[in-house]
Amino acid sequence: MSRNDAAFRVPLLAALLAGWNIAAGSQSPPPPPAQILGPDQCAPCHAAQTDDRLSSPTRWLAYDRHALAGLGCADCHGGDPRTADPQQAHGASAGFVGRPDPLQIPDLCARCHSSPQFMITYNPSLGVDQYEKYWTSRHGQLLKMGMRKVAQCASCHTAHNIRGASDPSSTVYRVNVPRTCAHCHGDPVYMAGYPIPTDQYVKYAASVHGQALLQHEDLAAPACNNCHGNHGAVPPGADSLAHVCGLCHAMNAQLFEKSPHAKPFATQGLPQCVVCHRHHAIAKPTPEIFDMGADSVCIACHRQNDAGWQTGKKMYALISGLSGLNEQAERALDQAQTLGMDVSDGRFALMDFRKSFLELRTLSHSFDLSVFSAKAEEAKGQAAQPLQTAKDALREFHFRRQGLLVSLLLSLPVLALLYWKIRHLPPRG
Ligand code: HEC
Ligand code: HEC
Ligand code: HEC
Ligand code: HEC
Ligand code: HEC
Ligand code: HEC
Ligand code: HEC
Ligand code: HEC
Ligand code: HEC
Repeated sequence: MSRNDAAFRVPLLAALLAGWNIAAGSQSPPPPPAQILGPDQCAPCHAAQTDDRLSSPTRWLAYDRHALAGLGCADCHGGDPRTADPQQAHGASAGFVGRPDPLQIPDLCARCHSSPQFMITYNPSLGVDQYEKYWTSRHGQLLKMGMRKVAQCASCHTAHNIRGASDPSSTVYRVNVPRTCAHCHGDPVYMAGYPIPTDQYVKYAASVHGQALLQHEDLAAPACNNCHGNHGAVPPGADSLAHVCGLCHAMNAQLFEKSPHAKPFATQGLPQCVVCHRHHAIAKPTPEIFDMGADSVCIACHRQNDAGWQTGKKMYALISGLSGLNEQAERALDQAQTLGMDVSDGRFALMDFRKSFLELRTLSHSFDLSVFSAKAEEAKGQAAQPLQTAKDALREFHFRRQGLLVSLLLSLPVLALLYWKIRHLPPRG
């Protein structure tokens, strides 16, 4: 490595430092280094330090994406990586940054990550828009105002153990994201002074989504960033956070748009799905919600016997009747099966019914009684089939048992005759 490489880097970093002010957030970052230096003297010396603060950055060199890509300490911190003399290595003339201030970190990372020309030589599939999006987030806006406690790049990604999002040990792996956010958002002491609650993680972890992701590792369920965006901007396809649910629950969203709720909710600025399901504490919905009892979300707006109330009650009657049929058919099929009868046709028919039943639950979002009743009627017809199969199987079973008895009875005289015949055979010889 020639001295010229460092000479190139120094003015670059100096220019970078000179440009480091908060307003720089909105400017495009300076270009990345033309050439990255190879193995350096920084890491071996730091690894040997007894102070954990100094040695810990070298602990993850075998995993950190930057180290794996051949990038060294000086690529982020500046300094002269080829000398074992700490004075020189940390020299201001070599553009040493030391520990970057949180306000400087987005620019530090963006030096490479916002440069398509640079990133394409390493990993063409990585986006280069994180920096730009970050400044649109609440975190970015507050950092720009000088608030160091908000999340910047290193708070979510770490500084020295940076891994890709698909690595299960990464802080931004889907299953780990809620804890990464909760590190701050779930800590009332850290968040003191900010006017927002600190219950998001606790509520989320107990919700249908949190249980699916954290307990069952169902990667289809959303982590915090699937709703809030990785870097702050609302995920593509959702024009606001209130519309984010439709990204995954597309049918529900379509039905909602056509429902009698769409217009009044929009006029009043109510956040769609969140009105009935909440955002972090989403519970498993049950048909009882339609029954207008004390726990029903509907009674927040509907008064006794208004049109919504009456429709809700009717929907409840239809849907609870069907869930009774499901259990009835299941029991009957089980009973026939324990008696050794083949009820596989009934099981298939029951699957059809269950599919319709699920569709019906989704269809409830139309809040249109005629559409809902038609589907309920269809499902009811499908439930009749497994019930019939079970009934037929039971009849068949009884028929066979009776048949066996009859044939046994019929064969008795023959057997008796045979016995009599044997007894009265003339003795041999
Ligand atoms: C010969 C050993 C040695 C070498 C080589 C070395 N360092 Fe250090 N580094 C230290 C020690 C000791 C400290 C703590 C005392 C100090 O700040 O000088 C330190 C401190 C630091 C800090 C923390 C500064 C702060 O403000 O807290 C950073 C960052 C750092 N070094 C990065 C580097 C980089 C980058 C290189 C290579 C360009 C490098 N070091 C080379 C020994 C070394
Ligand atoms: C991808 C960029 C990047 C690389 C590569 C990198 N660092 Fe850092 N380093 C940072 C950032 C960002 C911080 C500040 C972290 C913070 O404030 O949370 C930091 C902080 C530090 C600190 C101060 C830690 C403290 O708690 O005070 C030391 C020491 C350090 N780095 C040394 C190193 C050494 C040695 C290497 C090479 C093995 C290295 N860094 C490689 C970005 C990097
Ligand atoms: C609030 C937390 C948070 C902050 C702040 C943050 N990130 Fe991310 N970042 C994430 C998450 C979560 C993912 C993973 C998304 C996924 O699952 O694909 C990610 C993904 C990435 C990726 C992988 C490619 C991509 O875009 O999917 C890069 C590169 C990246 N971030 C760089 C940055 C940089 C640079 C900054 C600062 C300007 C930053 N991040 C700030 C949470 C954050
Ligand atoms: C000197 C240039 C450079 C700097 C500075 C830099 N990165 Fe990177 N980063 C890269 C390169 C190159 C890769 C791609 C490595 C690969 O895929 O082999 C990468 C990969 C990543 C990834 C993994 C993306 C994925 O999903 O595979 C994340 C996350 C990331 N960087 C975040 C950061 C953060 C946060 C900072 C600032 C603390 C930072 N980077 C500073 C060059 C840089
Ligand atoms: C380093 C600590 C830290 C981390 C990590 C962090 N945040 Fe934040 N976040 C804050 C602080 C501080 C605020 C400012 C609170 C405010 O808006 O007044 C904030 C604000 C927010 C806001 C805006 C709240 C509002 O309505 O004002 C959202 C949304 C948010 N964070 C989501 C996330 C998500 C999602 C993650 C994880 C991917 C995350 N944060 C990670 C510290 C953090
Ligand atoms: C299913 C989507 C979804 C998930 C998952 C999600 N959020 Fe939210 N979050 C929202 C919505 C919607 C709002 C409300 C926005 C509004 O009222 O304008 C919100 C609001 C917030 C706020 C503002 C303050 C508050 O509590 O209302 C913070 C901070 C926040 N979320 C952080 C998180 C964190 C941290 C996680 C993960 C533990 C998370 N969110 C998971 C959708 C989600
Ligand atoms: C990233 C995709 C995704 C997003 C975004 C999302 N969900 Fe979900 N949701 C799922 C998955 C997957 C499940 C199934 C979890 C399980 O196994 O129970 C689910 C389950 C549910 C359930 C329970 C379904 C049942 O049958 O019991 C409700 C209610 C729900 N989500 C509402 C919402 C609302 C409201 C929002 C927006 C605030 C939202 N979801 C955002 C993927 C998502
Ligand atoms: C945030 C308030 C709000 C909630 C919660 C709410 N609704 Fe409504 N609903 C309205 C408004 C406003 C209208 C339109 C005006 C009207 O007809 O009362 C409406 C209309 C309806 C209609 C059409 C009535 C007609 O005129 O034909 C039905 C059916 C309905 N709602 C059922 C329900 C059910 C069932 C629930 C609970 C699952 C529910 N609503 C929850 C506010 C709400
Ligand atoms: C007016 C209240 C209301 C609104 C608004 C609402 N839901 Fe529902 N949702 C319900 C009720 C009530 C159930 C329970 C149905 C059942 O169990 O039979 C339910 C059930 C669900 C289910 C489980 C059944 C299924 O479809 O798989 C999901 C998922 C769901 N809602 C998502 C959403 C989404 C996404 C939105 C916004 C587009 C939304 N809901 C808007 C009241 C509402």
